Amino acid sequence: MIREAKPSDKLHILKFCKNTFSWGDYIKDVWDYWLSEGNLFVIEKNIPIGICHAVFSVNQVWVEGIRINPDYRRQGLASKLIKKVESLAIQKQIPISFMLIDVQNMISLLMAQNLDYKIHQTWHFYSLLPQKNTHNKISFGNIIQENEFSHYVKSWRWLPLDKEILFSLDSKNFIVYSSKKGQRAIAILEDSEHFEKTLIVTLFAGSKSNTMNILFFLQNYGLEKNYGRIQILTKESLPKFRKLEHKILFHLMQKLLS
Ligand SMILES: CC(C)(COP(=O)(O)OP(=O)(O)OC[C@H]1O[C@@H](n2cnc3c(N)ncnc32)[C@H](O)[C@@H]1OP(=O)(O)O)[C@@H](O)C(=O)NCCC(=O)NCCS
Repeated sequence: MIREAKPSDKLHILKFCKNTFSWGDYIKDVWDYWLSEGNLFVIEKNIPIGICHAVFSVNQVWVEGIRINPDYRRQGLASKLIKKVESLAIQKQIPISFMLIDVQNMISLLMAQNLDYKIHQTWHFYSLLPQKNTHNKISFGNIIQENEFSHYVKSWRWLPLDKEILFSLDSKNFIVYSSKKGQRAIAILEDSEHFEKTLIVTLFAGSKSNTMNILFFLQNYGLEKNYGRIQILTKESLPKFRKLEHKILFHLMQKLLS
C-alpha cells in the first residue's frame, strides 16, 4: 500500500491538496522537487490517497507534507505513512524524527501526540516586505558557537546547524549579526528552493536594538537583491516594525526513535 511516488501520482494527489488549509496548500509548488529528491511516499487504495515526504540527514529525519484525501481520513493512513518513514530512519540508525505543525492544527497535533511526538520548540513565522532604509549597521561573519543553536531553516526544513553547515553558510556570506553592548542578534539567510524571489531567514533575536538593526538590514537587502518577500522564522516574539507581519506559530515536534 505504501510506495515511492511516481510522476503519474501528481494529478491524483493535487486533486485533494488544493484547499487543505485556510490559505490553500503548497504541495503543487514542491511536488516536482520532492519527487526528484526521493523519499516521497504515497499510500494507495487503487488510487493514491495520501502522501508524506521525508528528508534523511545524519542525525535526524524531517517529515513533511503529510496529506490524506479527506474521504479516507481517520483510518490510520497518515500514521502508517509516518511509521514507514520512522522505520526507514531506524534502519539508517537515525535517532530523531522532527515535523512542524501549526499550533492551531489540532487534528495534526493529536495525530503527532498519538504517535509519541512531543513539542520540542515553538517558532514564529513573520513576513517582512523589502524597503529602503538608511539605518543599517550589521556585520557579516560567523559568530555562532558550535552547538549554540540546534537548527536553522532551509526551505522550511529545520536542519541541524552543525560545524560544516556553519562553515558553508559563512563562506557564502549568509550569516549576519548586529552586536551592541555585549548583546547580539544573528540571522541566517537562505534562498527559498521552491518559491521565487523569497528570502528565508532564521533569526536568533537578541536585544530590541540589535533585532531592529537586523530587520532594517533585511529590508534593504531584500530590495537590493530583488526579493519579493522575506520569511522570518524565529523562536522569539519580534518588536513592532513597519511591514512586518506575524503570520503563524508552529510547534517543532520531536520523537526519539528506537
Ligand atoms: C492530519 C491528517 C494527515 C491525519 O490523517 P489521518 O489518516 O486521518 O490520521 P490517522 O487516521 O492516522 O489518525 C491518527 C490519530 O490522529 C488523531 N486524529 C486524526 N484525525 C482526527 C480528528 N478528526 N479528530 C481528532 N483526532 C484525530 C487521532 O488521535 C488518531 O488516532 P485514533 O483514530 O486512533 O483516535 C489529515 O487529517 C490531513 O491530511 N489533514 C490536512 C493536512 C494536514 O494537516 N497535514 C499535517 C500537516 S503537519
